[in-house]
Amino acid sequence: MIVKRSLIALVLLVSVAPAPLVAQQVTKNDASQPWRNKRLSAEARAAALVKAMTGAEKLRYVHGLFPPWAKPAPADMIPSAGYVPGVPRLGIPTLRESDASLGVANQVEQRKGDTATALPSSLTTAATFDVEMARKGGAVIGAEARAKTFNVLLAGGVNLTRDAWNGRNFEYLGEDPLLAGRMAGASIAGVQSNHIVSTVKHFILNSQETGRAVLNARIDEAALRESDLLAFEIAIADGKPGSVMCAYNRINGDYACENKRMLTDVLRTDWKYPGWVMSDWGGVHSTVKAANAGLDQQSGQELDSARFFSEPLDAAIKAGQVPEARLNEMVRRILTGVIASGLYDNPTPKTEQPIDYMAHADAAQRVAEAGIVLLRNQGGVLPLAKTAKKIVLIGGHADVGVLSGGGSSQVRSVGGVPVEIPLTEGAAASFARITWHNSSPLRAIRALAPQAQVTYLDGSDPAAAAAAARSADIAIVFATHWTTEAQDPPSLALPDRQDALITSVAKANARTVVVLETGGPVLMPWIEQVPAVVQAWYPGQRGGEALAAILFGDVNPSGRLPISFPRTAEQLPRPAPVVPAGGIPDTASNAGVGDGSKVPAWDVDYSEGANIGYRWYAAKRDKPLFPFGYGLSYTRFSFSSAKFVGGARPGVTVTVRNLGKRAGAVVPQLYVTAPDGSPLRLAAWKRQWLAPGQSARVTLTADRYALARWQNGGWAVAGGKYRLALAQDAEQVSQEQVVEIPKGSL
Ligand code: BGC
Repeated sequence: MIVKRSLIALVLLVSVAPAPLVAQQVTKNDASQPWRNKRLSAEARAAALVKAMTGAEKLRYVHGLFPPWAKPAPADMIPSAGYVPGVPRLGIPTLRESDASLGVANQVEQRKGDTATALPSSLTTAATFDVEMARKGGAVIGAEARAKTFNVLLAGGVNLTRDAWNGRNFEYLGEDPLLAGRMAGASIAGVQSNHIVSTVKHFILNSQETGRAVLNARIDEAALRESDLLAFEIAIADGKPGSVMCAYNRINGDYACENKRMLTDVLRTDWKYPGWVMSDWGGVHSTVKAANAGLDQQSGQELDSARFFSEPLDAAIKAGQVPEARLNEMVRRILTGVIASGLYDNPTPKTEQPIDYMAHADAAQRVAEAGIVLLRNQGGVLPLAKTAKKIVLIGGHADVGVLSGGGSSQVRSVGGVPVEIPLTEGAAASFARITWHNSSPLRAIRALAPQAQVTYLDGSDPAAAAAAARSADIAIVFATHWTTEAQDPPSLALPDRQDALITSVAKANARTVVVLETGGPVLMPWIEQVPAVVQAWYPGQRGGEALAAILFGDVNPSGRLPISFPRTAEQLPRPAPVVPAGGIPDTASNAGVGDGSKVPAWDVDYSEGANIGYRWYAAKRDKPLFPFGYGLSYTRFSFSSAKFVGGARPGVTVTVRNLGKRAGAVVPQLYVTAPDGSPLRLAAWKRQWLAPGQSARVTLTADRYALARWQNGGWAVAGGKYRLALAQDAEQVSQEQVVEIPKGSL
């Protein structure tokens, strides 16, 4: 948030030692306290609590404070994103909220010295195509959060990648609603396995960061149901998050946090979501409209232009503009999330607890190793021979660390920050710094190749880099593209003349490897000149070790792209962020957070509807540089004896075999094309580990969500002939067959 900058000094004054929580431990379980009766549903227990609360207690629970600005600061508040005081006499917990997309965040080191495990970016997790990996990652984050006395995690980012250039893509799970939804659901369930609440966010269509707080996203509702809403629908069904965070932007006219169609009709009526809707920070613009539309809690109220949900809500109730029953419902919903997640029955510790950082670092490394994608490997350049004598590393601060993405998800990782560059301008300047995790590829490569002379050059002088490359056996260029919340990058091209650096190094050494540390896709004009390219994303606090293991073949790459990589920006539905005619001043690009009325809105039309990513390319009969689902391995796999079936549970059973000499994972994918001819959809996948020579029989059953269409207000599977394709990725089909599928429902 733009307003955060002036707070930093203030934040640092607030004590970092977590004060004891005042939550009262009541063990009574008698009839006078039905809310303690674990045999009742979470909703019934929540309703009983609401009855026992005073009006003032209810009004206090529906608005949260922004700790850096809260005055007076409650004694047990520590700097983080949010705080909502509880009701100790009823055992209602104080909500202690932290950002946690990739680990327990600590932006701009609000809590001096407080570090946490930094997982790789969410896109890396998505690239594992491994739901269990996502669950484990969530469990790690949740465990650390709880041990640090937080109990509501602002996590579960599942906005679909509509635009390859979106600054926040690294925090999300890619372009496919089924993959993203399943991954988000698993990660949320992992967080909540610690008896704390996770959100799913940002509901909905916060698809570009430029003007996020004012723009009006326009889309046809059926298309929305089959794309972004579908990702949330699945994530909510699988993960059961206690809370949904509504987004900053407008959708078809109304702000997300006062959008009755989305918050009430879709979320509550259609999906029967029992938990609460909290606003994004600075995303509330009204009392009556928001309350009646379905917003349950105003978050970080100091960031809004007013305290909409406290005294003004009381006044609106007294004036008959908001029914009193609505306030009861808001509190009931919050408490339902608090009880259903297990938080109510398992109060958060009062003081910080020990954390097994070593085990968590290993978990972070496993995600990176499984999510890094080998994009290109000509002439067997990779894996690197451990007999190489001279290896030169160039650029990207690879001597000291790996890059991370910026914004509210920023973790200050265990091991410290070797490089940190403050921003001097732009919407993220107030709360983001370009930050490297202390995980040095140079160190990790030296450890794996002790026989070699491994040197590092920063790449600022392309001629020197080329000279060093010329005299080395292998040259590895580490290229970086930093992206952040609140801003979209100026371009998909690598900044700071890195393209020229890569070209000159590749010319000097035929065994050049490019490692990309990027939030998402970047343009690769040099691709034909470089024999090997590794997509490392933002690989987290053990990224250097994971990369070294992949480069030397200790780990066989198995990641698959959860997002299509365009050849040019012009191929995309929108080559650049949409801005109003005449442009917007840079200072306004995050404006509207808290004061939206002062900035005129503009429309962003998502006319591609549900044809996102690989479906967009299919619809246009165009080809990206690398397709969705793509990724190479150091071994070869075969698919054979495929047997397709139609009927109510259509799919394919296939034998997958590892033909090579190294163990590795293969990810067979099933895509369906409906009788209406609309572009293919990912319907199933399986990550299968195989030892050399080993085979396995794998069954992929099409997910009903991939077969159904949103029609006449509901999901329906049309009967007819569907094409099932067993594929390596969204383009490379191994075998396909047309099968008959009967008419049906989800
Ligand atoms: C972001 C949210 C985040 C919140 C609290 C907002 O600016 O959009 O993702 O959870 O801040 O820090």
